[in-house]
Amino acid sequence: MTKDNHRQQFPALANKAYFNYGGQGPLPEPALDAIYQAYKRVQLGGPFSGEVGAWVVQEAMLTRRAIASELTVPPETIALTEDVTVGCNIALWGIDWKAGDHLLLSDCEHHGIVASVMELQRRFNIEVSVCPLAATLNEGDPVAVIADNLRPNTRLLVISHILWNTGQVLPLAEIVKVCHEPPLTPPCQGGGQEEFSLVQSEGETDIKPPLTPPWQGGGQEELSRVQGDGQEDLSLIKRGGQEDLPAKNYKVRVLVDAAQSVGVLPLNLIESGVDFYAFTGHKWWCGPEGLGGLYVSAEALADLHPVFIGWRGIVTDANAKVLGWKSGAQRYEIATSAYPLYAGLRSAIALQHEWGTIEERYAEICRLSKYLWERLSELPDVECLRTSAPEAGLVSFRLTNGMPHKKLVDLLEKQGIMVRTILNPDCVRACVHYFTTEAEIDKLVEGVFSEIVRNP
Ligand SMILES: Cc1ncc(COP(=O)(O)O)c(C=O)c1O
Repeated sequence: MTKDNHRQQFPALANKAYFNYGGQGPLPEPALDAIYQAYKRVQLGGPFSGEVGAWVVQEAMLTRRAIASELTVPPETIALTEDVTVGCNIALWGIDWKAGDHLLLSDCEHHGIVASVMELQRRFNIEVSVCPLAATLNEGDPVAVIADNLRPNTRLLVISHILWNTGQVLPLAEIVKVCHEPPLTPPCQGGGQEEFSLVQSEGETDIKPPLTPPWQGGGQEELSRVQGDGQEDLSLIKRGGQEDLPAKNYKVRVLVDAAQSVGVLPLNLIESGVDFYAFTGHKWWCGPEGLGGLYVSAEALADLHPVFIGWRGIVTDANAKVLGWKSGAQRYEIATSAYPLYAGLRSAIALQHEWGTIEERYAEICRLSKYLWERLSELPDVECLRTSAPEAGLVSFRLTNGMPHKKLVDLLEKQGIMVRTILNPDCVRACVHYFTTEAEIDKLVEGVFSEIVRNP
């Protein structure tokens, strides 16, 4: 199928040059139609009826299967959620945190996830520190930085597979390896306070959680470590009708924010060894907003407690007596959802397969992002954050002539060119997908150039 034919299936692409795939992908016509047909089917068969109920179960199963096949995992490891953030929250809040446990996150995480970690810290008196990955964009080794920031009491690492601000792709399997096989000698405790200010100065959002400032433990840390000491080996967690497990598993679990990687990178999550991988359908998969998922490895599932709980995650007997959790990751699904979206996401994923394999699509994304990066690098007053070609579809750049990035983004939107600002680091982000065209990229580059000339 030619790219032009393929693009014609996306109504959003007809009237603009679109570069915001990392924010939200355009929904293709067949997916829109599948959603409409599914809503209609619910109405004609019910909406509440035995027949529609059975259909919903089937739809959810087909959708978990379709997603699982993209991630190269068994369908039982997939929970359907609403978006990336919900998936991250399921993992973050499902761990049985003890005061003094340590959570390590990178300095490039999304503010929604950062806010959740802040609240975890307040609620459970855990230690939180931030490791400086932003500085490894052009040189340095993110695996070594993470390894240096692990502590003997670290229980969770929170990172993104592709950093949403700079576009850096992290070597997931290597990172998981250092987390799952910590060195025998306790790693250096790193984590100077100056690292924390990177996150505190984020200011990307006007959400101001009513929290004590994050990671300002001063004095608290010592106390919580003492409280945690000596209890963990003895304490047991009781899981509904199941065997007791030691509360402390000495492996550092890895939670990945996969907002920018699902639908872009060829993935084999089993091979990577990752514990939790939270994603959404509405970005690079170009599915409907409101449907995402969470992968939980079989091993991590054993001690990740469901937090929001409802009828979809439990098993009951003939008298509705609650017997326990569903056996796989379905235990993290809650209750009534917009089921017709399932058909929409499957349709959107299937359409991407029509164009090429994930390897072919990823190669095309990289070819196009290199072209954009090269062309932007030629412009006066423009500096790409990366000093070498991007490894995925995100291309971030800054203006060096003092023009506010928000102004550039607003002016480009008036020209029908959609990009966005990122506040930390202060830059503009343009995303290319495999169906982006060189002509669109030329339009963006010429648009940036014309605005720079007009606004010296
Ligand atoms: C890295 C990252 N995490 C989380 C989110 C939030 O995604 P969602 O609205 O699907 O939860 C985004 C959205 O841009 C993101 O880029």
